[in-house]
Amino acid sequence: MKLRPSRVLTVLLLAAAFAFAQAPPRHINPLRLWSTLEKLSEFGRPAGAGFEGGVTRVGFSEEDLAARAWLMQLMRDAGLEVRVDPAGNIFGHRAGSEKFPTILFGSHIDSVPHGGNFDGDVGSLGALEVMRALNDKKVSTRHPLEMVVWTNEEGHHFGRGLLGSSAATGLLPADVLARKDEEGKTLADWLRRYGQDPARLADARIPSGSLAAYLELHIEQGGVLDESKIQIGVVQGIVGIHWWTCTATGFANHAGTTPMTRRQDALAAAARAALAVREEVRADAGRQVGTVGYVRVEPGARNIIPGRVEFPVELRDLDKEKVLRIWARIEKRFAEIAKEENVKLDCVPLQADEPALTDTAMQADIRAAARAARLTSLDLPSGAGHDAQQIAHLAPIGMIFVPSRGGISHSPREYTSPEGFANGAEVLYRTILLLDSRLHAKP
Ligand code: HGY
Ligand code: MN
Ligand code: MN
Repeated sequence: MKLRPSRVLTVLLLAAAFAFAQAPPRHINPLRLWSTLEKLSEFGRPAGAGFEGGVTRVGFSEEDLAARAWLMQLMRDAGLEVRVDPAGNIFGHRAGSEKFPTILFGSHIDSVPHGGNFDGDVGSLGALEVMRALNDKKVSTRHPLEMVVWTNEEGHHFGRGLLGSSAATGLLPADVLARKDEEGKTLADWLRRYGQDPARLADARIPSGSLAAYLELHIEQGGVLDESKIQIGVVQGIVGIHWWTCTATGFANHAGTTPMTRRQDALAAAARAALAVREEVRADAGRQVGTVGYVRVEPGARNIIPGRVEFPVELRDLDKEKVLRIWARIEKRFAEIAKEENVKLDCVPLQADEPALTDTAMQADIRAAARAARLTSLDLPSGAGHDAQQIAHLAPIGMIFVPSRGGISHSPREYTSPEGFANGAEVLYRTILLLDSRLHAKP
């Protein structure tokens, strides 16, 4: 039986109408969300590049400062009461009808050098979109709501990742204000540039009991959701991150006249150390990871034997004891290498952030929110660190992941689709309302 074109069109229109009727109501505005992301991506975009060129907007930089000012204006335009704490963390407050502890949600907007336009940005702008959507729908909540943009999450400068959320939880090292960036500016200098008084850094501490819950939307930064075509990740826990800075000290000498048997080659020792890290991390079963992210070689000329090399060691796992066992083996290997190469190998600890498990009731809220939005979800751990793991010291935490294409992150090729981003913001919106009704519910 041949269908007339008009009949085909009718069938197609009916199918589209049926599909539309089936799609769950979206509360957030996907177009507004995506256009805000594209605008944010301009702060720190490489000259001449487009959105796909990635971004360099490291914490405590002029690009970061400009982006923060722009975002704070959007927060004010959304009717939020905006304040900046002594660590530079930005908060946007929306009053609740009851004097309950606050439901806090947000992320960061600083990036790694040559990073992507989604890490942190998705959670920060997702939080803003939730506030805007609540206004659109004229929704009032019982709990006060606050969105937050944490300072210097990546810790590219000052050797302290999760810096803003660590200040909020009193977990900053004592020497942090004196730490310098590559131009010799200290954290104190940058805090003053950000309009803060470094002497009041301790006042950034969030009083315990003042938060009802903390929620963070973030890209997965791995490939699990993308490969399994699952739309939402329900994070079960966040790995602990341990950083050391190591120095190999040899003897700089003439590359032509120094016999191979009489060298104290700092780079040869550092190279062996980097391979030893990989071997010792691989020696155990499990998902632990270890990385040597760079080497800084001095004096750095082709005809001089390297005299000094600085390199970081980073270990991550959900199990802190396992990390410390692996590190003990690495230290033993370093001692052997130092002896064989006749080079000093010293490491100083820089940061050790505890792993954090998310709240199981909040995991259930996120699953329910995803289901209500007709989205698939999957439970998974986070191999990346997040501000949420610090705030876990203050309140129950939950994390929502959206897929990263190809599992790529910390790269200009980092990408999440507009659909994926909107799904995450919708689940964030719904989860916040579920939390608002469940927490401090009347008996
Ligand atoms: O390094 C991390 O895991 C996070 O992206 N800052
Ligand atoms: Mn991040
Ligand atoms: Mn990151």
